[in-house]
Amino acid sequence: MTISVRAFAKINLGLRIGARREDGFHELLTVYQTIGLHDVIRVSLGRGSGIEIRCSDPKVPKDASNTCHRVVEQAMGALGARGHVVIDIEKRLPVQGGLGGASANAVATLLGLERVLKKALPAGERLRITAEVGSDLPLFLAGGTVLGVGRGEQVYPLEDLPATACVVVTPEVGVSTPKAFAEWDRRMAGQTAASKLTVPAASDRMVELGRELSAWLGESYSGAPRQIFRRGRAENPLLELVRAGIKNDFEEVVFPEYPELSEGKSALERAGAKYASLSGSGSTLYGLFASKEAARTAAQRLRKQGWLAQATVTLTRKQYWRKFLVSSF
Ligand code: C5P
Repeated sequence: MTISVRAFAKINLGLRIGARREDGFHELLTVYQTIGLHDVIRVSLGRGSGIEIRCSDPKVPKDASNTCHRVVEQAMGALGARGHVVIDIEKRLPVQGGLGGASANAVATLLGLERVLKKALPAGERLRITAEVGSDLPLFLAGGTVLGVGRGEQVYPLEDLPATACVVVTPEVGVSTPKAFAEWDRRMAGQTAASKLTVPAASDRMVELGRELSAWLGESYSGAPRQIFRRGRAENPLLELVRAGIKNDFEEVVFPEYPELSEGKSALERAGAKYASLSGSGSTLYGLFASKEAARTAAQRLRKQGWLAQATVTLTRKQYWRKFLVSSF
C-alpha cells in the first residue's frame, strides 16, 4: 500500500524569544499559521526492514539525520511494527527555512505511516514523538492557526481564522537557527549589562506578548459584540492580530547579518502587503494581503524585481485536513 499526503508549510505570525532555559532551548511564544504551499510525501511499506528516503533534491538529507527518518524510527518502535519503509519526498517547498518544511514532512510521514500500517498512535504519544524530534513539528498535528509556547512544541489550536491571501518570498540564503538564537543571547546580555533598568527582562517581554495575544484572542473569540471593543466595521481577525503590533524577534538579529532579508520585507510592503515579516528564523519572508488578486499582482511585481515570490493563501484547520490526503491505494 502507498499513501500520498500533502505536507503544508507554516508561517509565524509574531514570535517572541524569552529566556534561555537550562536545557539550552529558549522559551518561545508564537502563533503558527499553516499555508497552502506544500510538499507531497509518499509512504509505502514492503518486506524486510529499514527506512529508505528518496528525494531528487540534493539539499535534502537521505540518511538518519532526516527528520522523517527519526520520526519513523520512533513510531515503528512505539507501534511494535516491522517492515521496510520507503518515504518519497516530492520537494516543492524551498529548503531555505522558516516555513517548517522538514518538520511538516516528518509529521506527514508519521500520519501516512500510521495509515499504511493500519495502526494509530495515541494522540499524546504522537505529540511526544514529534516534539522530541523538533520544536516545530507538533503544530502540524493541529494545522490552521496554532498558539505555540514552551520551546514552541506545546501547541494549542486556535479557532479557525478566515483564509487570508499571502505572498511568500524565499531569498537564497540559509540562516542557522541555533546561531540566530546565540546571537539573540549575545544581544540581550549586552543590552542588560548596558542598561539594566530600562530593558525589560526576558520574562517581562514574554508577558507583554502574552497580553497582546490574549487581548486579540479576547476580541476575536469572546463572542462579545464587536462594538463593545471598537467602532466601525469588523476587519479580518488575522490582519487585526498583526496590526496589534506583533513582531518576530528574530528580525533584530537576522536582518543586520543579512540586509537582503530586510530589503525583501520592504519590497513586500512596497508591493502592498498589509503586514510583512520574517517567518521563524528565516530566510523566508511573507506578506499578508487584502485579497488573492492583490497577492497575485504583488508576487508578479516581486518576481520582476528578481525575488523568488509565490502567492498562496493561509489554510484554516478544516482546509488543512480536507486537503491533507492526496491518495491511498
Ligand atoms: O527543536 P529544533 O530542532 O527545531 O531546534 C533547533 C535548535 O534551535 C536547537 O538545537 C536550539 O539550539 C535552538 N532552539 C532554541 N530554542 C527553541 C527552539 C530551538 O534555542 N525554542
